[in-house]
Amino acid sequence: MAKAVGRRHELERDPSAGVTTCGSRKFRKPIRGGKQIHLGRVLSGKNALFVGEGNFSFTLALARMENVDARRFVASTDASNVSLSSLGRRNVSDLVARGIRVRFRVDATRLLRSFGDGRFDLVVFQFPHSGLRPVANRRNPNHTLIRSFLSSATNVIKPDGRVAVTTIESPHYIGGFDFVEAARRAKMMCINQFSFDPRLYPGYVHEVTTNVNQRVDLLNCGFPLVTRVFAKNRFDHQSGRSIQ
Ligand SMILES: C[S@@+](CC[C@H](N)C(=O)[O-])C[C@H]1O[C@@H](n2cnc3c(N)ncnc32)[C@H](O)[C@@H]1O
Repeated sequence: MAKAVGRRHELERDPSAGVTTCGSRKFRKPIRGGKQIHLGRVLSGKNALFVGEGNFSFTLALARMENVDARRFVASTDASNVSLSSLGRRNVSDLVARGIRVRFRVDATRLLRSFGDGRFDLVVFQFPHSGLRPVANRRNPNHTLIRSFLSSATNVIKPDGRVAVTTIESPHYIGGFDFVEAARRAKMMCINQFSFDPRLYPGYVHEVTTNVNQRVDLLNCGFPLVTRVFAKNRFDHQSGRSIQ
């Protein structure tokens, strides 16, 4: 039987004992949950791409941390520079002053258009949301976004790269995203998940999709916040062969 994964990655090193599940019903495997990781420590010195950054405060919160080397980070938004809020503009200036690359009009579902293939250790999407879009092909637009994002991100990560997606764990969102099907279609697999605590990222100001002035108090949203970690699924269950 082919080996499913290669070298272990920082995002898998979680000493937590709590076990939950993440993956399709067909090949559900135990993963650890409840434990937190600090993305700053994991990403320091790495080629990390941040997509869908509303006001760039998440990348900046990491870059400001002591002992975090953020010089290889790339922060991006699908918006143009002129549509940024004043906070967003200030944060961009701060990131640029720190030597961090900032990119505008980056579509997270078409990353190869903006970046070369296989160059990132990790691609991060904090609280993806499609905004108010109509249902297309009978699929929730958030599911379509996540599925297309994972399919796109798998091209720009290194062979052992990872993709991290943080969401509000409410039945409404999780049902809509349908991560299991999205990952399966993108030939990726969810290998781990962690609680996300915004208090670990001072200065991070979460914003909603359609209104840059509307902020959300993540801590009081009433639901857990969870970061799922995805890796390329190297095992094709149909053929029984390793994909790579
Ligand atoms: C709920 S907001 C979260 C913003 C920011 N990541 C945060 O945590 O505050 C969702 C973000 O996803 C972005 N988004 C939606 N579709 C996208 C796409 N195809 N490519 C890149 N970003 C996208 C929106 O522009 C918005 O900034």
